[in-house]
Amino acid sequence: MILAGGSGTRLHPLTRITNKHLLPIYDRPMVSYGIEALVQAGVTELMLVTGGTHAGEFLRLLGNGREFGIERLEYGYQERAGGIAEALGLAEHFVGGDRVLVMLADNVLENSFAASVERFCAQKRGARVLLARESDPEHLRNLGVPELDGEQRIVRIIEKPKDPPSDLVVTGLYFYDSDVFEIIPKLVPSGRGELEITDVNNWYVEQGTMEYDLIEGFWGDAGESIDSYYAVNDFVRLNGANKK
Ligand code: DAU
Repeated sequence: MILAGGSGTRLHPLTRITNKHLLPIYDRPMVSYGIEALVQAGVTELMLVTGGTHAGEFLRLLGNGREFGIERLEYGYQERAGGIAEALGLAEHFVGGDRVLVMLADNVLENSFAASVERFCAQKRGARVLLARESDPEHLRNLGVPELDGEQRIVRIIEKPKDPPSDLVVTGLYFYDSDVFEIIPKLVPSGRGELEITDVNNWYVEQGTMEYDLIEGFWGDAGESIDSYYAVNDFVRLNGANKK
């Protein structure tokens, strides 16, 4: 799954005239980096969820997916920005009882995450998230932050914490077993009116089946703010992305 919905208000006024994930990162639309990363990691069946008034542009960019190495490409339309977990819920039929890898289309990585896909395939059940080290508390306050115990297990994840419990970020790369589609209908909207992916992740934490990998190299959320959008642009222009 690649999620490219949401309202993109943090990048207004740019996102009044297009979808955030179609804005350029160096020489390509943002969403292309996520798709390239997924294909590199072995994904051949992809569902893209988007919404709003620019949804048709994704068809013009991606077509039937063949040019990008996708064998089966399906599109989902989210009526309103009801949250990441709501967008994921649209994929139940597509996933069909299998496992699912979810990527937020505003996330850009320096290196391939193919090794994490292999680890998740070897994992019997549960979920897996990719963490990145982040030293700036201002960034941490805008993201999901895990708290770890003495054995370095995640004990809970706090969404947009006022007082971050670690210097780690839960990035927008999530691996789930098929239980995820039973959890989503039971979620309650958060204060911002969204079904939160952090609530899904905390369910797996409570079950004791949440694993993680720590990302090496650059990770950026190009949708966090206009400054992070440019930070990701600068990094990719100088260093590239999705290195094997
Ligand atoms: O980038 C990592 C962060 O992404 C995590 O650390 C947070 O735990 C997670 O909640 C998320 O936080 P954001 O505040 O960055 O989420 P945002 O609302 O920007 O949505 C992220 C992506 O998900 C965005 O690229 C589009 C997609 N999305 C979002 C919403 C709200 C949808 O497809 N549908 C939606 O309704």
